[in-house]
Amino acid sequence: MKMAAKNIDATLYDRVKQVKEFDESKMGVKGLSDSGITSIPQFFIHDPQTLSDLKPPYKNTTTTIPTIDLSHINSAAHRPKIIDQMKSAAKNFGFFQVTNHGVPVSVLGETVNAVKAFHEQPHEVKSKYYKREEGKGVMYASNNDLYRTTAASWHDSLQVWMSPERPEVEEIPEACREEVVAWDLHATKVAEDVMELLSEGLGLEGRRFKELTFSDKRALLGHCYPYCPQPDRTVGIRAHTDPGIITVLLQNHVPGLQVRHGNEWLDVKPVPGGLIINVGDLLQIISNGEYTSVQHRVLANPWKEARISVVIFFNLSKWREDGYCGPLPELLSPEKPPVYRDFTAQEFLGNFYGKGIDTKSLIEKITIKN
Ligand code: OGA
Ligand code: NI
Repeated sequence: MKMAAKNIDATLYDRVKQVKEFDESKMGVKGLSDSGITSIPQFFIHDPQTLSDLKPPYKNTTTTIPTIDLSHINSAAHRPKIIDQMKSAAKNFGFFQVTNHGVPVSVLGETVNAVKAFHEQPHEVKSKYYKREEGKGVMYASNNDLYRTTAASWHDSLQVWMSPERPEVEEIPEACREEVVAWDLHATKVAEDVMELLSEGLGLEGRRFKELTFSDKRALLGHCYPYCPQPDRTVGIRAHTDPGIITVLLQNHVPGLQVRHGNEWLDVKPVPGGLIINVGDLLQIISNGEYTSVQHRVLANPWKEARISVVIFFNLSKWREDGYCGPLPELLSPEKPPVYRDFTAQEFLGNFYGKGIDTKSLIEKITIKN
């Protein structure tokens, strides 16, 4: 017994050491990939259950997430139909793509290319930005939750907090500075249109979500999923739900994103010119369960070309005067009692930063059990 415990300690110690060495090398998984390794370090290897459930992209073509055309959102004849479509998508899939959202296609391409260019810079340039400082400013690192997660995943990310406090523009890496600033404005406009529709879908005034400050706290992540030599032993990003209100996601043509629907993993095939929107845990909570935050993941990339995604997380900026957040009172009635209890920002943040990304752990904690 004693022997076994000692071995486990030694293994754990070795893992911590390897993770630290990798982090301190500042090379990211892109650096590992470019170095030509043929097997991945042990700390990237996921548990057998996760690995046995990996499903190669584009093998299942049965269902896909809904696509919603936003061309006529300001037409009295079309708006109610669009609201219904979005309400149903947010309830049943938690994920949808929007087209004709008003952002020029050229901007989408420029944004993805700029983030790609950032990740493709030589080590000497990129490593200057490598640091761990979550929650504000600019941070470039491999796996934001590297020290909290049980197994690392095959991606690197550039994170820029865009609001309420944006870093000085000069702090944003030059390779993607202009594009990141422009993308934030475009994506926020789309998010605000979507939030109006989602707000109306709950029977609330269109401007209610904006008043609740849902577009005032934003973090942008430019992810890079480089080629992985052992895509059947790890993942690009582990299965999780997003903690915030909604997420706007732009991806290049390299596949890998999958969404949980019933007992299936659905591939999210990029619709040309489209943007992906998903419901986060906070929106599930404030809508009292009307909208659903859904698990998603990215497979480790088996292709030589990197998969790039640019994600903006929209979060609650201002908490209620009493410091709490919970299901919106106007959605509650004797027939629709609250499904979740109220909670504080401290509880929300403590839960998020207390471990690696996961699925609905806050929701589980605050669900009222009868
Ligand atoms: C995320 C996420 C998916 C992607 O950053 O939360 O789910 O395609 N990203 O990068
Ligand atoms: Ni996510």
